[in-house]
Parts: sequence; structure tokens; C-alpha cells
Amino acid sequence: MDKKKILEVKNLRTYFYTHEGVVKAVDDVDFEIYEGETLGVVGESGCGKSMTSKSIMNLVPKPKGKLEPGSSIKYYGLDEVVDITSLSPRSKEMRSLRGNEMAMIFQEPMTSLNPVYTIGSQIIEAVRLHQGVSKEEAREIAIEMIRKVGIPAPEKRVDEYPFELSGGMRQRAMIAMALSCNPKFLIADEPTTALDVTVEAQILDLMQDLQDEFNTAIMFITHDLDVIGEIADRVMVMYTGKVVETASVDEIFYNPKHPYTKGLLSSIPKIGNKEELVPIEGTVPNLTELPKGCYFAPRCPHAMDICREKMPPTFDINEEHSVKCWLSEKEGGSMNEE
Ligand SMILES: Nc1ncnc2c1ncn2[C@@H]1O[C@H](COP(=O)(O)OP(=O)(O)OP(=O)(O)O)[C@@H](O)[C@H]1O
Ligand code: SF4
Ligand SMILES: [Mg+2]
Repeated sequence: MDKKKILEVKNLRTYFYTHEGVVKAVDDVDFEIYEGETLGVVGESGCGKSMTSKSIMNLVPKPKGKLEPGSSIKYYGLDEVVDITSLSPRSKEMRSLRGNEMAMIFQEPMTSLNPVYTIGSQIIEAVRLHQGVSKEEAREIAIEMIRKVGIPAPEKRVDEYPFELSGGMRQRAMIAMALSCNPKFLIADEPTTALDVTVEAQILDLMQDLQDEFNTAIMFITHDLDVIGEIADRVMVMYTGKVVETASVDEIFYNPKHPYTKGLLSSIPKIGNKEELVPIEGTVPNLTELPKGCYFAPRCPHAMDICREKMPPTFDINEEHSVKCWLSEKEGGSMNEE
């Protein structure tokens, strides 16, 4: 297949050194994202989804958080490949990457909205930087963008400060800002959780338009598997800082292999499905007290002796489907040596 890689993450380990011990928030994560595709990222709370994306944006909270040696995050969108881990978070290169190439919609809107500027001026700045238009034109584009994300009375809202907006409005303002950069790579971290379904549908459409126009690669983090089904091309399932399954969206829904993925799928309500929902038993373990062997073993209905002894490697089921579970070895998956 002729698809161009935009980002490659290898051996990514993002650890926090806390009084309670080392929190392995992201623990040996490998994945790639291609131009024009949407990679959905799912997993329960605390599994390392946001920290994976903050690592990519070089925004891991210092000094407690740290990328371990050997972690590699390569951006392929420019003429020369850039290793993000070699850039300092505040360097000119990193800021230019963040401003011109990649954008992130954060789970907490105030992370990226500056409280001392009106939302309009923040969007106008992004528009001017990326579209080389006059201030007046940029203001018009900003107003249009604010309208597109479903904020009523955009001509008025454009001159308001973030604190004057409700949480949902702030979320939309941040989405408007991220999308006005026309990024080649967009990370959307639970972008629509706080929004009602009509606005959510509008936002998803906007992202789709952006992707169609600019061939944007989107990493879409969500708890909502229905949204994943709608927008993702591929899905990456995370558990306790590790990727446990990656596959095309169809494979994830119709041929899931990892017991955790199966658990996630059977714990969501489906329209017209009268079967009882089966939540995954137990809770995500404390990341400073992880069990020996497979981290999912204490909750897994299929746990075997080997699971409690040895962490499973990643097995390739086929070219586009890999699973970190001993059951997949039995089913003939080949070990991924990378
Ligand atoms: N500043 C910090 N100091 C210590 N540990 C942290 C810090 N930030 C995050 N963590 C830990 O890193 C782990 C991964 O967090 P992360 O925010 O990536 O989870 P998540 O998958 O995005 O969860 P959610 O779905 O709730 O957003 C969690 O166990 C969290 O407690
Ligand atoms: S490796 Fe074992 S414990 Fe872990 S998910 Fe697979 S079957 Fe369950
Ligand atoms: Mg998160």
C-alpha cells in the first residue's frame, strides 16, 4: 500500500518518578500513523493515552515525568525526519513543529487557551501564521471557524476571554484553534466528551473535512467506541501503559483477539442489542504495583500459568493486526521481534 508515514513512535517509555515509586505511564509503546488516516486510541482511565500524546507533543510535565533513554518519536512530515525526543520542549524547532505541523486538542481546554487573550485573538494568530492573510481576513476566518464549531453569536464571542465561556464552549474554541492551523498531524484527546451529540457530530464532520482537504493524520483518543466505529481507520488499544492490540477498525470490532479488547467491547451498549452488558471485572492496577507477567492477568478470564509468569510479547496475527497476549501464540500468531 502506498501510504506515507507521518509519525513513528518506538520504544516510547514515559515514566514519572514519584514518592510512591516509578509510574510507568507509557511503557514500551510502538506505533505508526500515516497521512490521511485516523488512528483511534482506546483504553480505560489511566492507561497512558494522554501521556502518549503529550510525549509526542513534547509536553510531558517536568521534572517528575521523563522519557526514558531509547524512546524514539520521529516526525516525517518535513523534508528531513525530525526526532522529537532530541528537541528541548521550549526550543524554536519544537515550537515551530507544534505551531505549524502538529496540533493537539487537549482533554482540559485551559491547557492550550491562554487566559489573558480573547479567544478570537488566539485563533486569529493561528490563522495569520498559517494562511498568510491580513488581520481583517483572519478575523473573518476566525469568526467563521467559531461558527463552524457550533458556538452561537460568533461575532460577539470572538472578543470574549476564555473565562467568559462555559466549559463546553471553551472546548469548542480550542478545537477551532487547533483546526485553524491546518495541521498535518492532529491529536484529539477526548475532544467531544463534554459536548452534546449534535455538536459532537458537527465537530467530527469538521475534522473529516480537514482530513479530506489536507490529508491530515489524526490520532483520536476516546472512551467512546461508537465514535471510534464512525471515524477510525485503525484502532490501538492501551492497557497499563502498553499497547495490547492494534488492528483495522473492522478487525477490532468483528475479530478482536485480546481479552481486554473483548471486555471493552462487551461493556458498551449497542443499539438494538438486548444482551446484558458485561463490565470488565476488577479495576486498572496501580501503576506502581503492577503484577508479574501479563498486567491484565488478575482481571482476565483466560489467564494461564504462563500469563502470571511472563509478560507476553506482541504477536502478529496478520500484517495489520497485532496482539500482546499468550493466547495469540497458541492461535499461531508470529512473534513480532521489533
Ligand atoms: N504528573 C503526573 N505525576 C504522576 N503520575 C502521573 C502524572 N500524570 C499522569 N500520571 C499517571 O500516568 C498514568 C497515565 O495517565 P494518562 O493521563 O496518560 O491516562 P489516560 O489514559 O489519558 O486516562 P484518562 O482516560 O483518564 O484520560 C496514570 O496512571 C496517571 O496517574
Ligand atoms: S496473556 Fe494471558 S492473562 Fe494476559 S490477556 Fe492474554 S490470556 Fe489474559
Ligand atoms: Mg487522558
